[in-house]
Amino acid sequence: MDIGIDKIGFYTPKKYIDIVELAKARNVDPDKFTIGIGQSKQSVPMEYQDSVTMAAEAANQIISKDDNIGLVIVGTESSVDESKAVATFLVDLLNLPEDVRAFEIKEACYGATAGLKMAEGFVALNPDKKALVIASDIARYGINTPGEVTQGAGAVAMLIGKDPKILKFNHEEVYMTKNVGDFWRPTFSKTAFARGKFSNQVYVEFFSELWQKYQNTFDQTVDDFQTMLFHVPYTKMGMKALKTLKDKIDPDKFDELSKHYQASIEMGREVGNLYTGSLYLALISYLINGDPKDNEKILLFSYGSGAVGELYSATIQPEFKKNLVSEEIKEVLSNREKISIKEYENIFAEDPQNGYSTNVSDVLDEFYLREIKESERLYKKMEH
Ligand code: COA
Repeated sequence: MDIGIDKIGFYTPKKYIDIVELAKARNVDPDKFTIGIGQSKQSVPMEYQDSVTMAAEAANQIISKDDNIGLVIVGTESSVDESKAVATFLVDLLNLPEDVRAFEIKEACYGATAGLKMAEGFVALNPDKKALVIASDIARYGINTPGEVTQGAGAVAMLIGKDPKILKFNHEEVYMTKNVGDFWRPTFSKTAFARGKFSNQVYVEFFSELWQKYQNTFDQTVDDFQTMLFHVPYTKMGMKALKTLKDKIDPDKFDELSKHYQASIEMGREVGNLYTGSLYLALISYLINGDPKDNEKILLFSYGSGAVGELYSATIQPEFKKNLVSEEIKEVLSNREKISIKEYENIFAEDPQNGYSTNVSDVLDEFYLREIKESERLYKKMEH
């Protein structure tokens, strides 16, 4: 039975900062941020937004009453509760049936991939049902930190089912876990701690090791793929992994992979870091901005600090264009407003506590945190 991504949706907040303005405010040469890091804009979530509201926005773009969803998994490292899962709020906000399993997965930026793999098993056992897997995150390193330029926010929602219309999983996958201290966020902290350069190094090492293992396990080479997609917290990062192949493969092949890589990072450049959604935004960006061939076989590299890596192959389905909500996704990106660095810093400092209440007239989105009452977060869908 073929199983994979039947639909895919995307959301990013409606406010963003310009990366050149950020560089100037931090007394950094803008080329470092735009070329060295490879970013143009960075999404800024509003006070009423979090991993719940963004997940709801992305899922709302793709689900319908007839989907027969039996499983809801949210991969996130920006959860709102130590106990209650983001996915449980969604059952209510998205009017999902009660006979679903709903929970949350955490392993840094690997969470969504873990969710997809569980969803694949679920569909294999329940072919008439679908699974909703959502990556939703706010990447926060802090004002004036080296990681600030690699912040961002957003969500990618994927509906997994049999006979998928967008991407078929090929059951060709290799993975590995090592206890590595490259990035972490203790429960007391709202911002992440990162050994940034070390994290880059581990990421590239994981890719190289897994690629070797993949080739040996499945007796395949780079010629079996037209495209490699990477976890891209900032757009230069995936290129570091891709470049490890440069001297080992035919220059034309490297050029083809590089060209497709460029198409895959166009959207990430405009949004910033989605943490666990980054790889899947690269997939969306490639589907929209690249020129995928029918039944093109692609390789996806998922990496979550801490660290878990997985390399797996999938096949783009011939009818993907019909099922991709391209116009809605493009609108999410075009329908945004630039804010100043000062405004961003003010929003960043906000920290809704018990007693918080949203002024509904400020809400620009469909889903929002209504209030925090008796330390409980209460969400709402906009009434039209
Ligand atoms: N023009 C063009 N490029 C420039 C430049 C300029 N004026 N100045 C610097 N650069 C380049 C550097 O050569 C470097 O390129 P390289 O990575 O190809 O070597 C790049 O810009 C970044 O410069 P660097 O000095 O390494 O930046 P930094 O010390 O500020 O740190 C990160 C960059 C990415 C390490 C930092 O932003 C970070 O820690 N981010 C968090 C990332 C992370 O940990 N993610 C984990 C999740 S996987």
